[in-house]
Amino acid sequence: MNELKASPAAVFAHRHLLGIEGLQAEEITALLDLAEEAVEVSRQVEKKKAVLRGRTQINLFFESSTRTQSSFELAGKRLGADVMNMSVASSSVKKGETLIDTAITLNAMNPDILVVRHHAAGAVHLLAQKVGCSVINAGDGAHEHPTQALLDALTIRRHKGPIHDLTVAICGDILHSRVARSNIMLLNALGARVRCIGPSTLLPKGLDRLGVEIFTDMRAGLTDADIVMMLRLQRERMDGSFVPSVREYFHFFGLDAEKLSFAKPGALVMHPGPMNRGVEIDSAIADGPQSLIREQVEMGVAVRMAVLEALAQNLPNG
Ligand code: NCD
Repeated sequence: MNELKASPAAVFAHRHLLGIEGLQAEEITALLDLAEEAVEVSRQVEKKKAVLRGRTQINLFFESSTRTQSSFELAGKRLGADVMNMSVASSSVKKGETLIDTAITLNAMNPDILVVRHHAAGAVHLLAQKVGCSVINAGDGAHEHPTQALLDALTIRRHKGPIHDLTVAICGDILHSRVARSNIMLLNALGARVRCIGPSTLLPKGLDRLGVEIFTDMRAGLTDADIVMMLRLQRERMDGSFVPSVREYFHFFGLDAEKLSFAKPGALVMHPGPMNRGVEIDSAIADGPQSLIREQVEMGVAVRMAVLEALAQNLPNG
């Protein structure tokens, strides 16, 4: 394992990780470098480090999750923390009250790190103001999902080298996607060219102000892309009709071999999961040689270890 040049705490001097917004390129790069070490640790027989020994990590999920919650759990355990999972089914009517009450209750148990997912944008920021520990945003509504963007960047970097100068096409339901927002900010911070492709009903107003090129035609948007990042159609966040039918959506925006052929030869395909096969992506592509989807899951654990480790060094007595 390589020695770090500067301690991550020296480069990443934050108490919380609430979003990619506001992070400097050097901070992002420091986290990715630290995650490279975590990849090595995670591939060994002995996967444990002691940086979180004695610490308590609570995963507080108001919205269900498979890979994000389990990877935060594994990441905490690999660093030696005591990890507790809390899945809270919350009614949207009681949202504000439940959130604050739960935060205050958990805070009284002296956790060191809270990992929080909530269906409302901004809820994790609010919670961070009410507790004395570090807070990590594991996804808040359609706002941010910073560890997803970090794991995507790590996956890209390991295959394509430095991220600047790459063309990354983010495709599909941009409107409802916290993954897209966090990725746009991170990729822009590292100097990539970012494109967003989707039907006009799924492109948010003001998207052009985020420094992306916008396309409503997949073939045009995919032309010469290095990375094709597909998004899930977030039907649970749609009230109303945003796409005529799933079949028509796949016809125009689903990634299949023919559309992918417009990207650069050797372009790589990503998806944060969970995937709707046959809706936004053809199974043959999802499981094909250009797909990085399974590797993204492995990188997810490593990136979460890196974030936990960086924050741990900024904890009191860290
Ligand atoms: C994403 C999420 O929850 O925002 N998934 C994930 O974190 N693995 C994307 C999605 O749900 O479509």
